[in-house]
Amino acid sequence: MPGAAYVHVIGVDPAHRGQRIGRWLHEQFATTASRRGATVVRCITSPGNRASVAFHTRLGFEVEPSATLVDGVAVQSDYDGPGLDRVCFVRDLSRQPGVGAGRPGSVAGDGGEDA
Ligand SMILES: CC(C)(COP(=O)(O)OP(=O)(O)OC[C@H]1O[C@@H](n2cnc3c(N)ncnc32)[C@H](O)[C@@H]1OP(=O)(O)O)[C@@H](O)C(=O)NCCC(=O)NCCS
Repeated sequence: MPGAAYVHVIGVDPAHRGQRIGRWLHEQFATTASRRGATVVRCITSPGNRASVAFHTRLGFEVEPSATLVDGVAVQSDYDGPGLDRVCFVRDLSRQPGVGAGRPGSVAGDGGEDA
């Protein structure tokens, strides 16, 4: 898809979660992608991964709509193959000009378990 950059998976060592490392990784990626002409970043997570949904939402991602809901969150059926549903996120870089800001640091809460 023209103008779209894609993150298939992001993970932080459980011992180092909650220090804004995940945010920093996404911001670095978004900055690089934006400089190369991307206007949106897309990524996915597994249905039921509430921590991941919370994380991506905090970073400004929106869940792509669907009629199929898992735990109240829209999922795309068979996205990664038969039976492999996924939550799909999109972040409009043009609406968030501050990409690239911030450094890892202390935040409350830890991360999720499964991608
Ligand atoms: C999801 C993951 C990458 C987050 O990494 P992290 O470094 O702990 O996250 P950060 O510290 O950068 O958090 C960024 C923001 O998300 C929020 N956040 C992170 N984990 C959260 C959680 N479990 N619940 C609610 N909010 C959360 C933080 O509060 C923070 O908000 P703020 O910066 O606005 O204050 C990490 O938990 C992980 O590796 N999980 C397992 C793999 C996975 O599920 N990856 C995602 C799907 S591919």
